Formats: sequence, structure tokens, C-alpha cells
Amino acid sequence: MKNNIRGGDAPIPCQLEADKNYAWCSCGHSADQPFCNGTHKKEGGTPPTIFSVHEAKEAYLCTCKETKNPPYCDGSHKN
Ligand code: FES
Repeated sequence: MKNNIRGGDAPIPCQLEADKNYAWCSCGHSADQPFCNGTHKKEGGTPPTIFSVHEAKEAYLCTCKETKNPPYCDGSHKN
């Protein structure tokens, strides 16, 4: 089992640019939530999810890492 933790207790609103690759932290260890800062390698966590959007938009990105729709918040932090 990978060493993942909660990275926060609420999603973070992010302004996403079109066609730019983002690395969403899936392990919870990054100090740069909601994005990966490479700490998963040292902590034995899961690697980041690389994603992009076709049109610039604001999105609420998950920090609790319980979402079923990564990288987006699906309300699972309230469970
Ligand atoms: S630091 Fe969490 S996925 Fe890289």
C-alpha cells in the first residue's frame, strides 16, 4: 500500500490555463497543494496525475485525495 495522506481538508480554487500540463498531487505530501512538488518519491506516495484543460477555467482541485474524480473535488472531503 502506498504511503498517501490527506493534503488538506478542502479543495483549492485554481485558475487553469488552456493546454498547459499540470501535475496534481495524488499522495497528499506536497507542500505546494494541490500540485506535486516531487515529495511523493521521498515519502513513497503515489505519483502525480498529469492533466490539462482545453479552455482556461477556474476549478476546485482536491486536496483530501479521496475524490473519485481526480484532480477535481467531488465533495468527498466532507465524508
Ligand atoms: S508530491 Fe504528491 S504526487 Fe508528487
